Amino acid sequence: MLNWDDEPQAAAQPKPAQPQVAPQAQAGLQAVAASQPAASNPTAGHLGAVAHPPTNPGAAGATGLDEVEMGASRIQVDDKKIINCKADLNQLVPFKYKWAWEKYLDGCANHWMPNEISMAADLATWQDPNGLTEDERLIIKRSLGFFSSADSLVANNLVLAVYRHITNPECRQYLLRQAFEEALHTHAYQYCVESLGLDEAEVFNMYREVPSIHDKAAWSLRFTQDICDPDFHTGTAETDQKLLRDLIAFYVVFEGIFFYVGFVQLLSFGRRNKMMGVTEQIQYIMRDESMHMNFGIDVINQIKVENPHLWTEEFKEDVAQMLREATELEIRYAHDTMPRGVLGLNANMFNEYMKFICNRRCQQIGINPLYPGATNPFPWMSEMMDLKKEKNFFETRVTEYQTGGALSWD
Ligand SMILES: [Fe+2]
Ligand SMILES: [Fe+2]
Repeated sequence: MLNWDDEPQAAAQPKPAQPQVAPQAQAGLQAVAASQPAASNPTAGHLGAVAHPPTNPGAAGATGLDEVEMGASRIQVDDKKIINCKADLNQLVPFKYKWAWEKYLDGCANHWMPNEISMAADLATWQDPNGLTEDERLIIKRSLGFFSSADSLVANNLVLAVYRHITNPECRQYLLRQAFEEALHTHAYQYCVESLGLDEAEVFNMYREVPSIHDKAAWSLRFTQDICDPDFHTGTAETDQKLLRDLIAFYVVFEGIFFYVGFVQLLSFGRRNKMMGVTEQIQYIMRDESMHMNFGIDVINQIKVENPHLWTEEFKEDVAQMLREATELEIRYAHDTMPRGVLGLNANMFNEYMKFICNRRCQQIGINPLYPGATNPFPWMSEMMDLKKEKNFFETRVTEYQTGGALSWD
């Protein structure tokens, strides 16, 4: 894995002689390239197989859907780049970013399905008037309300905005796996709502009706809307920074900060032997999300290595401000979902926890910690990520899926 402070590798540097990718070649799944006259779109390969000398690696353009050029030279590892790459995107190998392929394999090895987890005991607890307090019920409902729309937002950002701008086949392979996992997560929340007999309209509309949930979704949407535009193309410092900003907003903030109050709250039920079905679902989801975030951080840091001109002091300050705002929103969410202490937790503990998490995220992408000295009031969270250790708490099917490599929780 490349690190933000690694020396840029010669192979990863943009070749000065290479022209910028033509905007049309970045059109991805949109119809733009197909509707362009071939003469105005020389790099996209449309009707242009004869015109290309057979020296352009793969020569299939940067979408993966451009025409195939007979006799084009074979792809070399050094032809590959995370963004603005012109080498054929339909050839998975040779691998350049082995970490992306390994995460894809780990994701497959950790496969699970929400409806394999029994919710019978949870339903009995939910229906028992003395099974849960009102404050505990509020946490369950708010969490399902936030997560059910959040995972859809993440999936839509991935498929409709991010995917076409990531010009590397092994990273795209992981993105496809991640997109399916996001579908499983939305499925898991729907399954919990259905199993417990909750008011589905109430839960699924919370992101429009509960301010602390709405504010997190609204904050994130600001960062996907530009790059989702079919007319948006990477290839300039300004647009490449917009893509980098979106990746940080979704991978570092949304999946790396906005999920964590909910994770702690829901896992706290399991620590008290309550709502074990919901807890187990969340444990699987948190394992997936941790890998999503780590993949995103690797992508972000690799883009920085390959495009050091994007990582300016001004840009870093913008990113720090994003992380500050996100931390404050997540602390506000903690207070909204926990008006009183519950499950051994109270909202003030999350002031400290979210600052601790924010510092970790800063360090992972090369920003100075924003809250020096913040400590972790929930050290047990890291144990929750290691499913192999959880047999005492979670005795159902946990170990059967644990066939992947070692996982780190953040
Ligand atoms: Fe998810
Ligand atoms: Fe995710």
